[in-house]
Amino acid sequence: MASLRVPEMGTDSTAPLLYWLIRTLRPQRVLEVGMGYTSPFLAKALQDNKKAYEAERALLGRPSSAEVQPLAHGEYYDAPYEPRLVCIDRMTDPTSSAPRSLAVMEELGVAGVCQIIEGDLRGSSGRVRDCVGLVDFAWIDTWNTLDFVREYWDLIDPAGGVLAVHYLMTYPEGRAVIRYLESMRGRENGRLEITNLREPHRFAQNSTTLIRRTRDYVEPEDLRPCGSSNDPTGVLDID
Ligand SMILES: C[S@@+](CC[C@H](N)C(=O)[O-])C[C@H]1O[C@@H](n2cnc3c(N)ncnc32)[C@H](O)[C@@H]1O
Repeated sequence: MASLRVPEMGTDSTAPLLYWLIRTLRPQRVLEVGMGYTSPFLAKALQDNKKAYEAERALLGRPSSAEVQPLAHGEYYDAPYEPRLVCIDRMTDPTSSAPRSLAVMEELGVAGVCQIIEGDLRGSSGRVRDCVGLVDFAWIDTWNTLDFVREYWDLIDPAGGVLAVHYLMTYPEGRAVIRYLESMRGRENGRLEITNLREPHRFAQNSTTLIRRTRDYVEPEDLRPCGSSNDPTGVLDID
């Protein structure tokens, strides 16, 4: 993967961050716009999720599983985990490692989850919809964030879908995009979570903004078995 790293793109910390976000959130339908160093991290995270899912599922119901997976949520494993990664890049930027990223994914044996749309993101949302339907996790690393948000917003799952955007915080046009995203709260009945993560040691390519759509998200019931409450506030212990 190191051969794809372009220092000026500033994704050396972001790529592992994306890997671990995907390992943690376990999305199945992932979209990347702006390929390169980050692409194999996304594909590998999805493939590692699938391996983990299968190993965990095989353990469920065995006597030993309580030791190995003491927190396993049985219903999660009722649905299959079939991850897909759709990547869009117009492949015309001579400084980008995007055109080489597929070969690296093939070398790593993770290209199977990936489908590439070579072209401009503008006008490609229909093809993305055809490939995966709604998107659970999107990562965008181009200058066209506003175009992306306008065309692709409805493709981000309103029940918890996450959009991660590179480098918006520290220049006026980027901050305007953040304000635009914040203004989307109205459309979302106020239910939109936005977190800006800043890398303070850099003057550019130095942030990732995470947006989570929660308009249609339903809080899960208390999933813990009765009697296992751990309530540091003591509120639940009052009769
Ligand atoms: C900043 S680089 C991506 C860096 C990559 N994520 C990495 O970690 O190395 C931006 C990429 O977006 C692509 N790109 C820029 N504008 C685009 C657009 N409007 N549609 C499709 N691809 C675009 C470029 O071809 C380039 O490969």
